Amino acid sequence: MRIIPYGRQSISIQDVSEVSKSLREEKITTGNQVIKFENKINKFLRCKYSTACNSGTSAIFLSMQAIRLKKNDVVIMPAINFIAAYNVANLFGARIYLADVNKNTGQMSPQDVEDCCKKFSLKKIKAIIVMYNGGYPENAEKFIKLKKKYKSFIIEDACHALGSTYNIKKISYKVGSCKHSDISTFSLHPLKTITSGEGGIVTTNNHKIAKKIKSFRSHGILRKKKRHWQYDIIYHGFNYRLSDINCALGLSQLSKISSFLKERKKIYKKYILELKNFNSNLIIPEYSKTIKPSFHLFIINILFEKLNRNKNHFIKYLLDHKILAQQHYIPIYKFSIFEDKSYKLSASERYYKTSVSLPIYVGLNKKKHDKVIRTIKNYFKNNK
Ligand SMILES: Cc1ncc(COP(=O)(O)O)c(C=O)c1O
Repeated sequence: MRIIPYGRQSISIQDVSEVSKSLREEKITTGNQVIKFENKINKFLRCKYSTACNSGTSAIFLSMQAIRLKKNDVVIMPAINFIAAYNVANLFGARIYLADVNKNTGQMSPQDVEDCCKKFSLKKIKAIIVMYNGGYPENAEKFIKLKKKYKSFIIEDACHALGSTYNIKKISYKVGSCKHSDISTFSLHPLKTITSGEGGIVTTNNHKIAKKIKSFRSHGILRKKKRHWQYDIIYHGFNYRLSDINCALGLSQLSKISSFLKERKKIYKKYILELKNFNSNLIIPEYSKTIKPSFHLFIINILFEKLNRNKNHFIKYLLDHKILAQQHYIPIYKFSIFEDKSYKLSASERYYKTSVSLPIYVGLNKKKHDKVIRTIKNYFKNNK
């Protein structure tokens, strides 16, 4: 058996055929597939405007540019996060504060943001970056109250959460609908809910923001309507475009998103059934009953100190059995690029010590899934 990754893309004959058709179109970039993809995303997420771009990182860049993030502006984000949002905010010269997270889910709550503001005496925040670790949109509707209090923008780094929903009073909201945020960003990297090869999406309901983002995506060019050779540069933009070839794949994948989500849910449920009450040193994070996640990751927490082991030992053991687990994520303050070497957050530390992501993807068949579960159970039997 080949190595079992923690995630991978699912590509069908339909995907291959749609990509191949797109190659024969008149335009293979800035063409119809891009418009079609963005329209379908608007409909799927129930948002007004979406912009396809060439990665989740560029989606974050475009959002930060759109809110005019400037030098010394305050940005708050969770310490447990992929590095993209941190690096982008840093490039804009923002003062970045990392908030603590829930010790089991790795997610920042509004209270964590408040605690961070108190600790650093922050009165005004330019942007709060929310991240739904693993695709579980905890507290998605609750950050909006901080927007008012701190006169802040709320940007959702929803790169894990395409297809996730949350309920308020029996009304269901899609992450990306921007009903409780200003901007949402998504990644279409092969490991995500759907893929376009590489790719990203920015969504918003704000016309001004959307217009800027569309312009930034393509060098900040404004062309005269009936004189295409006449143009002005109205913003400092770059090339963040997504080609029609990528959008054709994105469209084909989007048409299958419900079945992708169902399959991920099935895998999640089997893990719960097998592992939930299996051992008191293995904890599965509890999520709110009002959310429907994308099940991007399956995260567990293991109390390694009770087993006299550590996370490296477990991940290495799985690798020896041809299972590639992962950690999402190492707290940002631990990286060499982070200047304040005294930064330490207790729940982030705890999460980092205990959390491991297990394989979950469309195509993880019964044989492979059973092997993962069996191998984990054996670990606990051998390390009492
Ligand atoms: C939470 C999060 N944000 C941003 C990104 C960046 O997305 P991309 O790799 O498409 O640039 C990722 C990618 O893994 C991510 O997981």
